[in-house]
Amino acid sequence: MRRNHITKKLSKLGMTEIRGLNLNERFDDELLNEIKSLWLNSGGILIFRDQHITSQQQINFSRQFGTLFGSPEGVPMQDTVSRYLHPDHPEIYRVSNQVDKEGTPTGRARAGTYWHSDVSFREKPASASILYAKQIPVVGGDTLFANAEAAYKGLSQAMKDILAPLQAVHDFAIAAASQYEKPVVIRDDLKGANRALHPVIRTHPDTGRKSIYVNPGFTSHLDGFESKESDSLLKFLFGHITQPQYIYRQIWQEHDVIMWDNRIMMHFAISDYGHEPRYLERTTLIGERPT
Ligand SMILES: [Fe+2]
Repeated sequence: MRRNHITKKLSKLGMTEIRGLNLNERFDDELLNEIKSLWLNSGGILIFRDQHITSQQQINFSRQFGTLFGSPEGVPMQDTVSRYLHPDHPEIYRVSNQVDKEGTPTGRARAGTYWHSDVSFREKPASASILYAKQIPVVGGDTLFANAEAAYKGLSQAMKDILAPLQAVHDFAIAAASQYEKPVVIRDDLKGANRALHPVIRTHPDTGRKSIYVNPGFTSHLDGFESKESDSLLKFLFGHITQPQYIYRQIWQEHDVIMWDNRIMMHFAISDYGHEPRYLERTTLIGERPT
């Protein structure tokens, strides 16, 4: 990076941190392209350290990369999570283990404590998610990321050939049943608006690289298979993608903003910090239809 930006690789998978870049700055095209290109070659995660931004500034930064879920020009996320959105900014999804004076949660507690890729149950799932750590516990609350592009490379050619023509159904109902308490789930969310069929192997529109696109949180089954067949193949893939050599562990520093690529990775938020306050805000970009 030019100017005073310092970048450092954090993993052999490519994850990169940047220091000395202020996300409030108005980026010119050259700098924006430089960030995009760094992001596309950073193993799926770019970490901007020491950021002090408001919710609106996070939205402004995020919009430079595309259309956001919850924005006037975009589409909302599933109704079930609307109670966790920022009251003044529907583009911001709040992750929090705290409640306000009335006892209302100030965000989704234990959000994403299962392997998943954000919003994969929509015809146009999330491309980037941008998460800002405003308050983090002294220890714990790390987030694991599994790089499904590296995992794809690690498959035999015979397995790649088997997977190439397959499609999988992604359905929010899987997470609704296992991760949400019953009263929280809006029943209309289970009627098909959050169900989509995607290729098991997708090709990244910007890099042309292939990755495995299934996740335990939302992928219900492989299209056309008996359930036992589907279950065993998916179990193999989930186990394959989450092997240690494909994992990056994000140990949060307060004021980190991280931007990851849901098209090539799954993530898992570790809930091991009890009641110590943890508060993060996420913006989510609407991606393209996977191919
Ligand atoms: Fe997530």
